Amino acid sequence: MPDTIAVTTRRVPGADAEVISSFFPVPGLGFIPINCFLLHAREPVLVDTGPVVLRDQYVRALEQLIDLEDVRWIYLTHADPDHVGCVRDVLAAAPNAQIVTTFLGLGRLTLYHGVTPDRVYLLNPGQRLSVGDRELRVIEPLTFDAPDTTAFTDSQTGTLFSSDSFGGIVAGPAECAADLSATALRDGVVTWATIDAPWLRHVNRPTFEAATARFRELDPPVVLSSHLPPAHGLLEVLLDHVATARAQPRWVGPDQAALTALLASLAEPGPRDEEAHPQV
Ligand SMILES: [Fe+2]
Ligand SMILES: [Fe+2]
Repeated sequence: MPDTIAVTTRRVPGADAEVISSFFPVPGLGFIPINCFLLHAREPVLVDTGPVVLRDQYVRALEQLIDLEDVRWIYLTHADPDHVGCVRDVLAAAPNAQIVTTFLGLGRLTLYHGVTPDRVYLLNPGQRLSVGDRELRVIEPLTFDAPDTTAFTDSQTGTLFSSDSFGGIVAGPAECAADLSATALRDGVVTWATIDAPWLRHVNRPTFEAATARFRELDPPVVLSSHLPPAHGLLEVLLDHVATARAQPRWVGPDQAALTALLASLAEPGPRDEEAHPQV
């Protein structure tokens, strides 16, 4: 199994934001990018907090970008374990920080993260939040894998923070979505949407097209998905690929026999192992 690739930070042109990312290996598929973002609003906004399993690395990366005390808002697009990693660390370090989530999100956080309502600000699709020099405009994402999920646009740059929507599985690290070949981007986004939103194939065409029209109207110049390198000027392409995913059959993962075979193959010493540890 390939290793998780180290957590890195990078400025996102045109978005007034930094992306903190890693690439999580999925045997047989490739890597899932896991991004969180620091939006440089007058009241700084952390958008998601990385995966639980890499919590320490995401905290360290974030500390290189901002004094955690200065974080004012922690926008959790939803409370899945790949989005709530270092939320408690930031809450502890930033006494004025509030989590932005929905009522359902608060419920999920209460169940397993010990977050109390006084640290939470509830915001629903259709509502807005002023963060000093701009507004976060909350919308329902095109696809999602949890009912508490929201997305938003930044009123100053038009950037869409799309949560799990418009994610893509990649063959390796990439700085931006435009660095992927057209085929790799299509295959990665179609596979991700097919897996992450298995209900998509039940959505009829008029309903799907009405949903995509809302995003065309917004026309975000930058799409920042939690699971794709930053995408500039690619909205139409991404919408096309999600439309392709809608026509795919349900994705079914490896079964126990396949997992047993995979584990056995990993346990077999390869030529390099034998060189490093010769039998005597
Ligand atoms: Fe999710
Ligand atoms: Fe996710």
